[in-house]
Amino acid sequence: MKNIVVLVSGGGTNLQALIDAEHSGEIKGGKITCVISSKEGVFALERAAKAGIPSRVIPRKEYPDSLSYSKAILAALNEEKADLVILAGFMTILDECVTSAYAYKIINVHPALIPSFCGEGFYGLKVHEAALAYGVKVSGATIHFVNEKADAGAIILQGTVDVLRDDTPEVLQKRIMENVEWKLLPKAASLFCQDKIDIIDGKAYIKD
Ligand code: GAR
Repeated sequence: MKNIVVLVSGGGTNLQALIDAEHSGEIKGGKITCVISSKEGVFALERAAKAGIPSRVIPRKEYPDSLSYSKAILAALNEEKADLVILAGFMTILDECVTSAYAYKIINVHPALIPSFCGEGFYGLKVHEAALAYGVKVSGATIHFVNEKADAGAIILQGTVDVLRDDTPEVLQKRIMENVEWKLLPKAASLFCQDKIDIIDGKAYIKD
């Protein structure tokens, strides 16, 4: 059974989707063993507590820079013996010391179709504001491995939704979460835990 450590910063609806999927047996070969939050008092921590999952808070604001914060995260992941790390609405970019130690073992959910509307500065509602400002007719979410560049690691799964004429960023965000993120993130976790993802020339392929 692989140890899954989930990193969060906010409401934790993606964490909830993972918890629900684990409870219904959809995550084969893996178990959420720890939740780590970059902020105190976020609702994701309540979700973890309710599910009986141990949690830690490693507040980003207590560290002077990304490197010192990343070292603290790395130490925690090692202590937790993480086999898979899932960034589920984790709003801090991790330094290369973490991404190289856990190469092809960290998965992120990004609320757009990478390579559109991604990279530094594109997170949460800002992503959907940018998609609407551009006028795209489809958007979606991407589940990808995390490497040293923001939102640039190998893509595992993507799913789309239509963008409608009267959409607000909040409405589009909700449609993408409900139809794509909450389904594909548990699916990717399950594929990983069953060793069903191949990496060939830096790209991810699902085994038949
Ligand atoms: C989700 O939409 C997730 O895709 C996005 O933040 C939201 C977190 O919601 N992540 C990013 O923008 C990362 N770049 P949640 O806390 O309810 O899961």
